[in-house]
Amino acid sequence: MMQLISILLSSILYQATAEVDDFLVELNQSKPIKEKLSHFRVYLHDIVSGRVPTAVQVVKPRTPYSFGQINMMDDPLTLGPEPSSKLVGKAQGLYASASQEELGLLMTMNFVLMAGKYNGSTITVVGRNAAFHKVREMPVIGGSGLFRFARGYAQARTHTLDLKTGDATVEYNVYVMHIE
Ligand SMILES: *[C@@H]1O[C@H](CO)[C@@H](O)[C@H](O)[C@H]1NC(C)=O
Ligand SMILES: *[C@@H]1O[C@H](CO)[C@@H](O)[C@H](O)[C@H]1NC(C)=O
Repeated sequence: MMQLISILLSSILYQATAEVDDFLVELNQSKPIKEKLSHFRVYLHDIVSGRVPTAVQVVKPRTPYSFGQINMMDDPLTLGPEPSSKLVGKAQGLYASASQEELGLLMTMNFVLMAGKYNGSTITVVGRNAAFHKVREMPVIGGSGLFRFARGYAQARTHTLDLKTGDATVEYNVYVMHIE
């Protein structure tokens, strides 16, 4: 009798597990997924001064090194270093001052692309930006649209910095593996 109950129970348990597991289906690929490696270069314009800033402070800093400050940005990305050069996207997100030893920013941003076939596709960058270092490297952790399954890295180099206003133009070289 006990044995029968035990068999019944395990069969009920098995069915329940099978039903729960069924929510995930392994998809068959008609053709193997091909990854490609792409590179692009854009210039990010972070304008914190004037009447039309592209980045605004949302949390006030604690000194030193502006520790604790958080800015929200909607910064233009252009093909050339001039602000008037072709707009290809926006860098939307937050940068937060996360270091007490130097200016060390935590960047969490989406490159929202607008140019040609990339219009609407996004690349997500999360990483550390020690803004006064010559080259800063940040991981690309994902993407959407033509950048699905994206991973890679972005290297930032300050092109111009106005120490009085804080306005900066930063060159970004992005290397990204993705499927299309
Ligand atoms: C994928 O292929 C396997 C084995 O060929 C098959 O058992 C499975 O049902 C297929 N899955 C889908 C979603 O077609
Ligand atoms: C990008 O797409 C939006 C709508 O999805 C459209 O309004 C806009 O004109 C497009 N821009 C370019 C440059 O194709």
